[in-house]
Amino acid sequence: AARPFVYRNRILHCDGVSLATLAEDHGTPLYVYSSSQISQRFQLFQQAFASRPHTVCYAVKANSSLAILRLLARQGAGFDIVSGGELERIRRVHKPALKKVVFSGVGKQAWEIDAALKADILQFNVESEMELDLLAARAQALGIRARFALRVNPDVFAETHPYISTGLSEHKFGIDIKSARAIYRRAAKSKWLEPYGVSVHIGSQIRKVDPFAAALARVTALVAQLRHDGHDIRTIDAGGGLGIDYSDAPFDAAHQVDRYATALTKGLADDRAHLLLEPGRFIVAQAGALLTRVLVVKKNGSKTFVITDAAMNDLIRPALYHAHHEIIPVRQPTGKAANITADIVGPVCESGDFFARDRAIANVKPGDLVALLDAGAYGMTQASNYNSRPRPAEVLVEDTKVTLARRRETIRDLLAPEVL
Ligand code: LLP
Repeated sequence: AARPFVYRNRILHCDGVSLATLAEDHGTPLYVYSSSQISQRFQLFQQAFASRPHTVCYAVKANSSLAILRLLARQGAGFDIVSGGELERIRRVHKPALKKVVFSGVGKQAWEIDAALKADILQFNVESEMELDLLAARAQALGIRARFALRVNPDVFAETHPYISTGLSEHKFGIDIKSARAIYRRAAKSKWLEPYGVSVHIGSQIRKVDPFAAALARVTALVAQLRHDGHDIRTIDAGGGLGIDYSDAPFDAAHQVDRYATALTKGLADDRAHLLLEPGRFIVAQAGALLTRVLVVKKNGSKTFVITDAAMNDLIRPALYHAHHEIIPVRQPTGKAANITADIVGPVCESGDFFARDRAIANVKPGDLVALLDAGAYGMTQASNYNSRPRPAEVLVEDTKVTLARRRETIRDLLAPEVL
């Protein structure tokens, strides 16, 4: 499906709603999400893997808006969580989905493990022997048997930004695949630990699919050994990481998911395990935009700066990973209007507070609205209050209907936890 942000009568719309109207009604900066795009992306995964038993466990960290989680839960999604906070979000939106939760992360704490055991989640993706010991101890204390998968580190290289690559032995993630077999053997001795699956995740924003196949082939070989050792391995968790195109090039999402499914199928050979998938970005990134208003256009020497009311605290991806986001005006320029070349920046007091540098952009003026595209994943979830800036509001668009998913923060919200 095409991107949900399109011009109609020269005004940028999200599905059937004008972004100019949204800015008037809800203010800026504003995160805008297309509900139908999120559902479509989820269904692409459902269809591509329809021929085998599978559960799509959406990675909550990509966008943890309750409204979006509920939308996905109602369509049968499971969830990949990394904290007690994310667990609580799932409990809040759809209790039956707790049974389809996998819990990832390298530093789970006892209280988080306890909450997840009591919630009877599907499996813990364990990332160290120390965590496995803690899991056994908490399971025993609560009298609840824990289903676990070791997250193995397959030592597979996947080309992406170094900050979001995870599948090499030099990374903090997972357990060396070579020592996994011995750890399963030891764990199986505890009556509180149930060897249930094997999991892997090699990184994020990965555009080639071969690394996924390579990682999964190594996991599948391990699963065969584990079965031989007498463990009843039920699930193979392939992690997330399928990338999108952040440029304005045409993007065939269905084709991308199909390529991905073919690669995973190849890696799995004929293993019949229940496949778990943890896509985050691919489901929500292109469904979202950050809508912002131009405050100032200024020149310093030879450079032009477009200063918007959104900043790095609202969307940190460009500052953190030099990520590219398309930036387009809400009012479509006419054919003959010339572009300017400018840095698009926020009001935060850091030179790192930029959305784009030396970018050709429409000749915007103060008061104009612009949209940063593909901001649905790792946008709001990575937002902060730096510079004591309240975080944006979020709206979910469904056709022509607009639902406020999160109200704009107030200064009062910001100060509330503080003690004088
Ligand atoms: N599963 C695990 C264990 C993960 O660590 C992640 C992402 C995912 C699934 C989902 O990956 P996805 O399908 O979204 O690529 N903040 C960065 C991305 C960090 C990804 C962290 N882990 C960014 O804005 O690009």
